Amino acid sequence: MDIHSQKILILDFGSQYTQLIARRVREAKVYSEIHPCTIKFKDIENFNASGIILSGSPFSVFDKGAPKVDKRIFELGVPVLGICYGLQAVVKLLGGVVEKSKTREYGAATIKVSNPSPFFTTLTKKPLNVWMSHGDCVKKVPSGFKVISKSSNGVIAAVKSDKFNFHGVQFHPEVVHTQKGEKIIRNFLFKICKLKPTWTMASFIETITSEIQDKVGKDGKVVCGISGGVDSAVAAVLVHKAIGRRLSCIFVDNGVLRKGEGDKVYKTLRKNFKMNISMVDASSRFLKKLKKVTDPEKKRKIIGNEFIHVFEAEAKKIKDVGFLAQGTLYPDVIESVSFKGPSATIKSHHNVGGLLKNMRLKLVEPLRELFKDEVRALGRELGISDEVLERHPFPGPGLAIRIIGEVTEPRCAMLREADAIVLEEIKSAGLYLKMWQAFAVLLPVKTVGVMGDERTYEFTVAVRAVESVDAMTADWVRLPYDVLAKMSSRIINEVKGVNRVVYDISSKPPSTIEWE
Ligand code: XMP
Repeated sequence: MDIHSQKILILDFGSQYTQLIARRVREAKVYSEIHPCTIKFKDIENFNASGIILSGSPFSVFDKGAPKVDKRIFELGVPVLGICYGLQAVVKLLGGVVEKSKTREYGAATIKVSNPSPFFTTLTKKPLNVWMSHGDCVKKVPSGFKVISKSSNGVIAAVKSDKFNFHGVQFHPEVVHTQKGEKIIRNFLFKICKLKPTWTMASFIETITSEIQDKVGKDGKVVCGISGGVDSAVAAVLVHKAIGRRLSCIFVDNGVLRKGEGDKVYKTLRKNFKMNISMVDASSRFLKKLKKVTDPEKKRKIIGNEFIHVFEAEAKKIKDVGFLAQGTLYPDVIESVSFKGPSATIKSHHNVGGLLKNMRLKLVEPLRELFKDEVRALGRELGISDEVLERHPFPGPGLAIRIIGEVTEPRCAMLREADAIVLEEIKSAGLYLKMWQAFAVLLPVKTVGVMGDERTYEFTVAVRAVESVDAMTADWVRLPYDVLAKMSSRIINEVKGVNRVVYDISSKPPSTIEWE
């Protein structure tokens, strides 16, 4: 069953901006999916798109092995939009001329619309600042094509062809630096594809719950691991909405959780949503395995494997469970199928692949079409509190990779208290939602201090607070001195065993966000 009545197919030629195209389309309340440009024509046909967008690419049309556009897409009777490489590949395919630009245009450029088109409706008068990123340009359009805009350098910036129902732009409307870029994409969707903005979270919930019901069947049972994070909580609430108490959730306390970690999500799911959820205290089991281990990668592996064992043992207690629900998101899905040129490698994205093999569970991944901010919007629509939805990311291996060196229960307890103080102070300064992540790290470095009249010789806590959009790069937050001062004095006064606090002022790269 196709749950989307209208949708845009985005063919990915490998551009760094492809995900942004999908987001702009979805922000306009039209559902969109990204597929690699190498998919079979039969699959393009079966997709049943209401419009197709061809993305940009790191390739030049002159490169050996440059990806091609299948001419048959123009027989599908739907509008096609080519962006940058998408435009150039179509021009070359249909008999026009593409050439290497004399002046390579990267960054800002100005364009002027010369021919009226619904594509540029209400934008035709003033020059527009747009974002260019290309080394090739269109020299001559194929027959029947019209140039509708040029840049101030005389480069062809936009074309259209009624015969092929095609529009093409040399610039990137999906990038925020393009003035009115959003409007241009909306014009394509609403004026050219004649779509309606009907894809909302409410409609998504309706369609996805009936899809889950179909997949799981009348009696099927689902198990879901709750991590304390946003994705697994939203996935669980959604599956619960579809099948009620046939969903069993398992929250594993691995002993390296933050203070109150389990409680908030557990209480929300159990009390507000009346879900079937069990809390397994496996902390001593995890800590035993972590004894004397100091290597960060070993810590990660131990925690990952142990989680599988504990979860599996718990899940086996549920009779006839046939499905495993997971909060896999769209970026993970795209990552595993995206077009990367001839050297493409397929990356597995299943978080707990081991479980599937051993238990023969089928996967239910209700968020696999969504971006992170869409998951938050969905959570809000489902009635999950902001406190749960807006939480900073927390790594699977938890405090174990924030305690440098050996992980022991007393060290966990110390870090848990220090970390809670960092978060409390960030929240009370109104800064929590303004940053990507903030936390404390425990350093097994003893230094000398003086408390009252006594000499102390105790551990150090490092405070980390970073800004980021996607965790790929990050910068340290310029926290106000008074916030740092309060954190430091509270940690030293309230956390026994710590007599020094330092602030981490490293960016990623070359550092990473976590210390291990
Ligand atoms: P790094 O330290 O690589 O972290 O700059 C980037 C982001 O990913 C989180 N992170 C993890 N999350 N398992 C996870 O689920 C892990 O092993 C892990 N390591 C890092 C980190 O908190 C940050 O947001």
